[in-house]
Amino acid sequence: MTKTTNIAVFVSGGGTNLQALIDAQHRGELGNGKITLVVSSKPDAYALERAKNNDIPTAVLPRKEYDSIAAYSRALVETVEAAGIDLIVLAGFMTIIDEQVYDSFPNRILNVHPALIPSFCGKGYYGLRVHEAALEKGVKVSGATVHIVTPECDAGPIVLQKAVEVLDDDTPETLQKRIMEQAEWKILPEAVRLFCENKINIVNNKVYIKGE
Ligand code: GAR
Repeated sequence: MTKTTNIAVFVSGGGTNLQALIDAQHRGELGNGKITLVVSSKPDAYALERAKNNDIPTAVLPRKEYDSIAAYSRALVETVEAAGIDLIVLAGFMTIIDEQVYDSFPNRILNVHPALIPSFCGKGYYGLRVHEAALEKGVKVSGATVHIVTPECDAGPIVLQKAVEVLDDDTPETLQKRIMEQAEWKILPEAVRLFCENKINIVNNKVYIKGE
């Protein structure tokens, strides 16, 4: 029997990407992956309800209860290590963390970003702000990216990307919704499956997918 890959999903908000992962797991589409912990930076995140509805243990670590990014990151590492986590997935996790987390989970943290990296990414680009910037620029396609998390914000090796059409009458909200539906909720579970099946090969900061 293959060993289970224990997954912690970090959230701060609505948790639709968490839901996509839960649904994929129920359909048997995460390989040997199992979501065994949901960590929220916000006590009132709806994502926590989604976890509870699916009997997934939760941990709430509000950022404001910690003096520094370092203290917060240390608490996160202790929480996931105590839970025997193999893979961390950042799914709308809106809190800055430091190298303690990256160093404890090298090449074992995935993030979903709602744009085609390297466009509209890096410091200050999160949530609706990403889509506002894409519409301000007038791009004709945007999309989503799943990448390996490294210390440089949104700069780690790209695992999967999917393009989505931008329409003339889009608002940040309509574009966000289309990108979630058509891209994020598909490529995030797919990337998690690839990780769990040990198919992500990183060479010179680039990902090569083995045997797909
Ligand atoms: C998603 O669009 C995700 O890509 C984005 O926040 C949203 C969370 O939605 N993440 C970032 O902007 C990270 N830079 P969700 O809570 O419904 O999954």
